[in-house]
Amino acid sequence: MKKIGVIGSGSMGSGIAQVAATAGHEVYLYDNNPEALNKASAKLQKILNRLVEKGRLDDPEAKAIFGRIYLVDNLSAYSDCDLVIEAIIENLDIKKKVFHQLEDIVSPDCILASNTSSLSMASIAAACKRPDRVIGIHFFNPAPLMKLVEIIPAIQTSESTLDISRDLINNWGKLTVVTKDTPGFIVNRVARPFYGEALRIYEEGIADPATIDWVMTEIGGFRMGPFTLMDYIGNDVNYTVTETVFKAFYFDPRYKPAFTQKRLSEAGYWGRKSGRGYYDYSEDAKNPVPNQDKDLGEKIFWRILVMLINEAADALHLNIASRDDIDLAMTKGVNYPKGLLKWADEKGIDHCVEAMDQLYDEYHEDRYRCSPLLRKMKREGRTFY
Ligand SMILES: NC(=O)c1ccc[n+]([C@@H]2O[C@H](COP(=O)([O-])OP(=O)(O)OC[C@H]3O[C@@H](n4cnc5c(N)ncnc54)[C@H](O)[C@@H]3O)[C@@H](O)[C@H]2O)c1
Repeated sequence: MKKIGVIGSGSMGSGIAQVAATAGHEVYLYDNNPEALNKASAKLQKILNRLVEKGRLDDPEAKAIFGRIYLVDNLSAYSDCDLVIEAIIENLDIKKKVFHQLEDIVSPDCILASNTSSLSMASIAAACKRPDRVIGIHFFNPAPLMKLVEIIPAIQTSESTLDISRDLINNWGKLTVVTKDTPGFIVNRVARPFYGEALRIYEEGIADPATIDWVMTEIGGFRMGPFTLMDYIGNDVNYTVTETVFKAFYFDPRYKPAFTQKRLSEAGYWGRKSGRGYYDYSEDAKNPVPNQDKDLGEKIFWRILVMLINEAADALHLNIASRDDIDLAMTKGVNYPKGLLKWADEKGIDHCVEAMDQLYDEYHEDRYRCSPLLRKMKREGRTFY
């Protein structure tokens, strides 16, 4: 494979373009918003310059990588691409339209991939005459730094499309996991409570975002707190993923979105990219100081962690992926300090079941139902490892 097309030059598209160009490919980057394309080009230049300053790249290398990324103003540039990765807005109808359009332009052997976080690959593939060449290749943000890539074959995807895609992405130095084409795949399904339970704790007035972020980083050892992370991902993108996963799970209350985030998204408080989200990113902004009460912190941490463990256990229960892939996906895809199933063993399966049952007793909401797998394991005295 020589030529790679990337559609959408936002946070993900520009990162994927950088990864592919660094691996030696010629990359054709398109966006239907010329301003976004110019912004991506300036950002890429800045990132590559920074890598040179840090000594990670030498100057000629950085120039060569930048020189391999061609900004294009229409899709016809993709006629001789071997792979096109779409990273546009998370909207099924728009994605389907783009895939349908692409098929008339690309060569018969070109693989068509989507970077979707939560949409059905079967549905995107169904928009194509040759759905067997369509596949999900899901990078994490920021794409150049995050090791994990989820590969999602649709039920229509051919074995050869899967093999070629996986080999290529492995050759780009990434770690791949193949996941079932179910909502949120592994990471965006299992990670939902990291955001959802943090938002719930905030909405109940138990603690503010700064405190919850402090808890999850200082007590929990996570690299970023949930609110900082949502601001980083973009509240618009993160909200849409949550809502899509919620709808796709037939409105399972476990994945219910929060009004707090919906309002932020509606108000344009998207986070870093718009200058304001849960936090203010303007130059002289004064952001709130966390309440560093240890007891409160431990309670908040355990409530979020046990919800994450419960979700991971349920993903295993429903055969979304193997035990090892679930733990690998969370440590390499979103940098969790530990695999959740490993964490469950450390905390004790009994303790996890007890905590879930306590939450359920308190709220009587289906959201807090304990995974049958945890309950069964408790009964049988088993551990994950
Ligand atoms: N942000 C994340 O953390 C993240 C992580 C993994 C996957 N994703 C997925 O990647 C995709 C892109 O997300 P993002 O965060 O980069 O979004 P973004 O808003 O930063 O960028 C999307 C870009 O697509 C362009 N675009 C929209 N419609 C288009 C069209 N019809 N043709 C060409 N360009 C179009 C927009 O102008 C914009 O520049 C989404 O499917 C998202 O779910 C996002």
